[in-house]
Amino acid sequence: MSYQPSAKRYENMPYNRCGRSGLLLPAISLGLWQNFGSCDDFEKSRKIIHRAFDLGITHFDLANNYGPENGTAEENFGRILKKDFKGNLRDELIISTKAGFTMWEGPYGDWGSRKYMLASLDQSLKRMNLDYVDIFYSHRPDPNTPIEETMMALDSAVRSGKALYVGISNYNAEQTRVAINTLRQLGTPCLIHQAKYSMFQRWVEGGLLNVLEEYGTGCIAFSPLAQGLLTNKYLEGIPKGSRAAKNNASLKSTDISEQKIAQVKSLNQLAMNRNQTLAQMAIAWLMRDWRITSVLVGASSVKQLNDNVRSLGNTTFTDHEFATIEAILRQ
Ligand SMILES: NC(=O)c1ccc[n+]([C@@H]2O[C@H](COP(=O)([O-])OP(=O)(O)OC[C@H]3O[C@@H](n4cnc5c(N)ncnc54)[C@H](OP(=O)(O)O)[C@@H]3O)[C@@H](O)[C@H]2O)c1
Repeated sequence: MSYQPSAKRYENMPYNRCGRSGLLLPAISLGLWQNFGSCDDFEKSRKIIHRAFDLGITHFDLANNYGPENGTAEENFGRILKKDFKGNLRDELIISTKAGFTMWEGPYGDWGSRKYMLASLDQSLKRMNLDYVDIFYSHRPDPNTPIEETMMALDSAVRSGKALYVGISNYNAEQTRVAINTLRQLGTPCLIHQAKYSMFQRWVEGGLLNVLEEYGTGCIAFSPLAQGLLTNKYLEGIPKGSRAAKNNASLKSTDISEQKIAQVKSLNQLAMNRNQTLAQMAIAWLMRDWRITSVLVGASSVKQLNDNVRSLGNTTFTDHEFATIEAILRQ
């Protein structure tokens, strides 16, 4: 199979400014946390990447530990880049990676030391066969390393030319303030915060988004579908092959409680009234806040990706619909 990008790829996707930076990100980005590792069907993963790019998704999000096995999402993505995104197409892509979770044995393969962060970035570049990534993240705050040390590592990544921008993920509002101020003093702005945000997980509304707005840092919302729960997939139980059915699943069957499913059923009804799928409504709902630069979805098939991108067809809500959603989420 050879791949020729669609000539119409920039016709429908909106591109949003990331905070007060010069960088535009697609309203919907694709994450490779799951479905792109050594355990997955390579040709299927490849088709999802092709379709994403054809739909105007220019931003692909990775991390050192994505797979499973750790590192294999980066390896597979590197193979796809080499086969299908030759020449100047690299200049049409925003590729991010992260370091912060356990990656290799011993005291230097985890958390936020300068030693780990910069070694990990070198490994990621090698796996993806790239000279640089567009965004390099600290994947989580390290309680035992000064934030200053981790931010100095991010600053070094930019100065060495191995990353164009830097970001942080999973930092709370106060840690975010310290991180952004430290990066500013070093002369490298904090481009973006990657935060878990969905109808079911709203912690960012408690202060983080205000901090990001104040400093002009963008926000990309991960797990917008609560890993598949905010779709019509689990309405009648846990289907075979779904994320919740996998061994060591990140979505636990205990997360799929009766109360949650009752809420999902009501939300699904509301989505149908809006002529949308629940996945589409869940994504559109995140776009109601202009501070969300991009919604970072996952997909295990081209069909899911198509469904998710169709959310762009209806992103407005009436006050009554907003109120109905709030009432359902309070149930
Ligand atoms: N920074 C961090 O700490 C962090 C943590 C987690 C994720 N992330 C990033 O965020 C990205 C997205 O996270 P996520 O995968 O949890 O996002 P998500 O969009 O909430 O969940 C994606 C999963 O939901 C199901 N799904 C997606 N679209 C569907 C549709 N239209 N209909 C039915 N089911 C659908 C699929 O699961 P099935 O396999 O069941 O089909 C898919 O793999 C990751 O790839 C990663 O880049 C970052």
